[in-house]
Amino acid sequence: MEEELNQVAPLYEALRRYREKKDASFHVPGHKNGQALRGDERAILDLARVMEIDVTEITGTDDLHHPEGVIREAQGLAAAQFGAEETFFLVGGSTAGNLALILSVCTAPGDVLLVQRNVHKSVIHGLMLAGAHAVFLAPQQDAGSGLATIPSEAAVREALRRYPGAKGLLLTHPSYYGMGAPLRPLAELCHAHGVPLLVDEAHGAHFGQHPALPESALAAGADGVVQSTHKMLTALTMGAMLHVQGGLLDRALLRQRLAMLQSSSPSYPIMASLDLSRSLLGTQGPAFFEGGLAAAAHLRRGLAKLPRFGVVAPPGASGRAAAYTIQDPLKLVIFDASAALTGYKLQERLEAEGCVPEMSDDRHVVLALGPGSTMEDADRLLQALVRIAADAEQMGNAAAGLSPDPVLADELSTWNITADEANLSEVSEPVPFGLTPLRPTEIEAISTQESIGRQAAEMIIPYPPGIPLLYPGEIITEAVGQQLMKLRDSGAKCQGPADPQLRTIQVKKRESQAYTCT
Ligand SMILES: Cc1ncc(COP(=O)(O)O)c(C=O)c1O
Repeated sequence: MEEELNQVAPLYEALRRYREKKDASFHVPGHKNGQALRGDERAILDLARVMEIDVTEITGTDDLHHPEGVIREAQGLAAAQFGAEETFFLVGGSTAGNLALILSVCTAPGDVLLVQRNVHKSVIHGLMLAGAHAVFLAPQQDAGSGLATIPSEAAVREALRRYPGAKGLLLTHPSYYGMGAPLRPLAELCHAHGVPLLVDEAHGAHFGQHPALPESALAAGADGVVQSTHKMLTALTMGAMLHVQGGLLDRALLRQRLAMLQSSSPSYPIMASLDLSRSLLGTQGPAFFEGGLAAAAHLRRGLAKLPRFGVVAPPGASGRAAAYTIQDPLKLVIFDASAALTGYKLQERLEAEGCVPEMSDDRHVVLALGPGSTMEDADRLLQALVRIAADAEQMGNAAAGLSPDPVLADELSTWNITADEANLSEVSEPVPFGLTPLRPTEIEAISTQESIGRQAAEMIIPYPPGIPLLYPGEIITEAVGQQLMKLRDSGAKCQGPADPQLRTIQVKKRESQAYTCT
């Protein structure tokens, strides 16, 4: 019975039937099942074929905002596959899910939410929309790599003690690097205080789907979980899911928030791809990941023979405290062990070799594998690394255009702001967020060097991974100021600042009053 259920993808099949019927379209979208592109040479990308299933809420295709038919069935099957009580399809990525979760727990301006500091910008935007007060929890740092994971149990316990009226705790797990630590103790702490644990699991949609993959946030007890099915599984870009369980979230309110945030014309190809992703997991089971896991293991073995490159890994049982005990085996975080090549440079070199990484920072390059990865891909990458290492050694690091200043192993990565180095306390005072912008007369642009100690008036988001280094209203600490200058000097891409080259930063004028973060 279960097997039969897994094999169906009701929404996807409804669209296939729709496509095969070739009915005449007298409804939106205007491309009329892709007919508008027929004969156009640019249709070589087969966009017209996608358009054949790009339908809307007509008879038989159901309605995302009031699901009674194939969408309801597809969401129910997804809930069963991912271990949720209820699953909502998202067509606006995890971004929409994070916004909806925050707006459904912070229902009145001034509501307090406990939030891990190194979150994606969508979380900061959710706080702004909700007019919430964020109590930021500093993440723990892996001493070996300098990369951040989740806040410690002690920090969560202290925050819950200090703010008994908090509406919940929001964490990001795993990190963009696939790194993490157990969520179970944190879920238990939240539940002991009667508040929900919300997890941005954008990078862990595959967790729990194979014995070699880490436990999913739902299995660890989280109440609301957002997953970018399009990132580590196989949905189309923007396809994501929001899973809920237990009685701590108001699901009627969550539905209303989703209806506010998501289009009233959600994309059927995206929703069908969510349905199909789930069906692939259901029908193939763990075997779905065998190829990708084998390719990742092959890469790790190959890298072990290339001393030039290191691979970030948990310190092991005898190692340091539990800041970093979980690593997604499908994410490989590599670095030049000689520290001559920055992560950015190594990414550039790999791209020149035809291997395109997921992202890089000043030290690391993140390689994301997945169910579609092959041994051939892994071999191609290894051969590229062999050539990169040989070139660098032959030419000498400086002549090879490598960084003349070795990057320190313990240097903070671009967006990892930890309590000690940024001079932050583990649990912040409540920071008020809102939507009212500062008036131009309250803002001034000053040189980045001079900005330390001032209050930021703009958001600065190194991209990827989209974690704001600064939000408006935040005091620019010495460590963050140094990071800004490093970003400026390395030419990193940032969203948000008025001066993209980061020569200047917008700060609040000294005479202006303290204000709500917008
Ligand atoms: C941790 C994290 N959360 C949420 C998001 C937003 O996900 P989406 O692109 O699916 O909207 C991202 C995007 O990179 C992310 O890295």
